[in-house]
Amino acid sequence: MGPVRRLGHTRRSSPMPDPGPFSLAHNSRSSRSDESSAFVPLGDSSEFQVTAEFDGGTGLSEECADTIRECLDRSGFVIVDGLLTRREADAGQGLIDQTVNDPKRHMSQFASETDNRYRRRNFCSLPSTPESLRFVSTLCRRLEPVISEYCGRSRPLLEITTLTSHQGSSHQYIHRDPDCVLSMLVAVDDIAPEQGGTLFVPGTHKYGGANIRMDGRAFEFMELYRIACNFRILAYNLKALLRMRRCGHPNLEPGEFRDRVFSRQQDDHQPNLLRFVTGKTYQFRVGMLGPRNLWKLFRYRKLLSESFRMVRTAPRKGSVILFRSDLMHAGGDNRSERPRNLLSLSIGRDVVNPDQWDLSYSPDPTLRANPQTYGDLLKEMDSPVPVGSAREANR
Ligand SMILES: [Fe+2]
Repeated sequence: MGPVRRLGHTRRSSPMPDPGPFSLAHNSRSSRSDESSAFVPLGDSSEFQVTAEFDGGTGLSEECADTIRECLDRSGFVIVDGLLTRREADAGQGLIDQTVNDPKRHMSQFASETDNRYRRRNFCSLPSTPESLRFVSTLCRRLEPVISEYCGRSRPLLEITTLTSHQGSSHQYIHRDPDCVLSMLVAVDDIAPEQGGTLFVPGTHKYGGANIRMDGRAFEFMELYRIACNFRILAYNLKALLRMRRCGHPNLEPGEFRDRVFSRQQDDHQPNLLRFVTGKTYQFRVGMLGPRNLWKLFRYRKLLSESFRMVRTAPRKGSVILFRSDLMHAGGDNRSERPRNLLSLSIGRDVVNPDQWDLSYSPDPTLRANPQTYGDLLKEMDSPVPVGSAREANR
């Protein structure tokens, strides 16, 4: 990691007027009409994108792997374009289709249980079939020079899931996943901006000494920024639900409005006012808006808006996003009629307490019964998906 310095990014010229402190719309270049209702307009993510370059058809070139690692170290995430061929991405889509259409699928317990219940999301684990393991193995072997920098061969595959979301899903609060995990999001199809790509806050990952930036207050300022964003997300989600209730599009199911706004059930990614006020939500609750934090939010508003920003991703088919689990991020809301499909997998970067595994990830029962390490995935599997030249096959 390079020398410690204050977090910050060069602002780019934008056709949109600066909406002021705490706005998340900095750096936007989008002029799409549907973007007017987005929480964060689609900005320029090119500084976080690396095009996959292959070395003799066997894996990433050394130079490309260096660039990916540098971006991952600096920003906490990177978008690798063209890592999979279109045919390979179709194979990933096939795995998702098989899973989401299976009535016996294993639903994930996180990332909005209420959305899962009302079929706004279909977050479920992919069984460890030979096909899904082969797919993941291909990914790991292709990214081996990058993943091996963070994960040892004995580290566990924590889950393979699909993050499928539908129209009317909530916008997740900005959050960090549990430490010491490397996660990947595979775009098995083009993700349109209105389908709700994942948002990241670059540079908020927790590497050694990260906190001593900003005069030793970097984590405190990150948390303040997160609170400011989550306040806006609460209002954004409430507004979207009220609009759905008023217009009937997309249609709310009986009881859905109540369960998303006034439920007693645990769900950290809904604008649930009851649990927000009673302090029972972990990601964002009324206690975070005490006088002390409100004063700091006012006092440091300029510093926060200059130091941090949100980047919304809209990966192309065959792209893979790698991110450190300790980076601040959030899944976007799907505002289109097309489902958004992302195949996701997570690998431990350290020893993982088995209890933590179940608390924070959703391993399929078949993965629990037949655990896989990163080293297992690097072994050649029967009939592996050919690496080939992804760039040429993508043409
Ligand atoms: Fe997350």
